[in-house]
Amino acid sequence: MFTNKLILSPMVRVGCLPFRLVCLKYGADLAYAEEVIGQRLCEAIPVKNDGLGTMDFLDPDGCLCFRTCDEEKDKVVFQMGVSDAETAVKTAQIIQPYVAAIDVNMGCPKSYSIKGNMGAALLTQPELVKDILTSLVNVCTIPVTCKIRILQDEADTLALCQLIESTGVSALTVHGRTRYTTSRQPCDYEIISKIKKLLKIPVILNGASLDVKNEVDMRRMMSETGVDGVMLARAAWSNPSVFRKEGPLPIKEVVTQYMKYCITYEVPLHILKYTIVKFKGIFKDDDNHFPISRYITCNEVYKFFGLEEFYENLKGSRPENAQTTYQKNKRVKLSDPTHVVLTCEWTPEILQSFRQAVAPLQMLNQWFDVNGVCTQKFSVSEHNRTFTGFLKIDGETFVTDGPFKNKKMARQAVAYAYMIKHNIEIRYYKRSCNSLVKDANQKIKCTDENCPKRVKS
Ligand SMILES: Cc1cc2nc3c(=O)[nH]c(=O)nc-3n(C[C@H](O)[C@H](O)[C@H](O)COP(=O)(O)O)c2cc1C
Repeated sequence: MFTNKLILSPMVRVGCLPFRLVCLKYGADLAYAEEVIGQRLCEAIPVKNDGLGTMDFLDPDGCLCFRTCDEEKDKVVFQMGVSDAETAVKTAQIIQPYVAAIDVNMGCPKSYSIKGNMGAALLTQPELVKDILTSLVNVCTIPVTCKIRILQDEADTLALCQLIESTGVSALTVHGRTRYTTSRQPCDYEIISKIKKLLKIPVILNGASLDVKNEVDMRRMMSETGVDGVMLARAAWSNPSVFRKEGPLPIKEVVTQYMKYCITYEVPLHILKYTIVKFKGIFKDDDNHFPISRYITCNEVYKFFGLEEFYENLKGSRPENAQTTYQKNKRVKLSDPTHVVLTCEWTPEILQSFRQAVAPLQMLNQWFDVNGVCTQKFSVSEHNRTFTGFLKIDGETFVTDGPFKNKKMARQAVAYAYMIKHNIEIRYYKRSCNSLVKDANQKIKCTDENCPKRVKS
């Protein structure tokens, strides 16, 4: 199952069902799903979704935790984040009837993983690694794999790989960077090659996106390093047809296919936009990705890609009682019915686009000033180390459909979403531009058309 394979790497948010399907369609042999925390899956409610033809696992509050379907059953690898053998086993027993293999994430360097003693935190705890993997191998009827990063010391890395092999796992994926190396730094192919020579089980190379443009590059890498497979994350995100034997397809064609899967499997707006803004070349004709960031409903995005008819036909052909509405992806309960939920995506890319410019929160506060509003109050709530922004104004409370990874993002998101909802013009001005006044339509405007501080409008 893991020999001579081109594989989609797990990617949180990106690697949901439609993305996996599009990569499989365009030549990936296997698709690793985004990491799901084991405890979360254990608490989820399994639901057979006849409306979509999927198997869903829903959090107790109705949020989608994991979705899969028959089309990918033999090719999808479920990746879990765990810190103990008991939870790992419980998770595996729940999920194994629905997937082709199970993987344990031992490479994630993010603080939420490390703090939870998961991901890369496991790399320096060989006894725990052994316990988790041996327990999994003992109970699983499908292959168990694990994905690691290398350690700073070569001998330690090799010893860890041997220990992992001794647990009986079916394959090992090695990301050729340490938990401290950034993703822009080079991948260490030499150590991966050494690991391959040392082990008998299949070894999969990971971390090569900066050096891979197509299937030929992946095959070359396999023959140069001797590994059994190449697993790609970012290169697949740039163009999911990177696995295709005949070479990658034009991105417009790929995005259309991806969108069709998104429509079929009801991907929420924030995932959809988060994913497609990284498709390489997609917004070439459209200046930048900003127009799409403004869309606040999925329908607008479908229209942008000329897929309204596809959507309408699909909607019409679904049974009326199809359970298709519970993909909320909200980690925070917005239980107060007086809150106005603003479903507007605020991504790091959008935040980036405001670099050097007045950020939405500041811009909106200026607009409030100009329009004589002084009752606005921004606040942030925290839930499981994620954040949701609130804006209370004249008795009404607006809330974003985040959540976001920090307070700053949550505040900016609610300001941005409010501006879009109320059609408040968003312009890019360099910080410290003093010439902002309202125009006849109450829109904030720079009085000086030649203002040197203006970035773009
Ligand atoms: C958006 C994003 C999300 C990721 N999520 C996961 C994850 O859930 N589990 C995991 O093991 N690695 C995750 N990774 C790491 C990738 O799977 C991969 O190891 C890394 O990007 C190096 O591979 P590349 O050079 O092909 O991008 C993620 C990477 C990205 C860019």
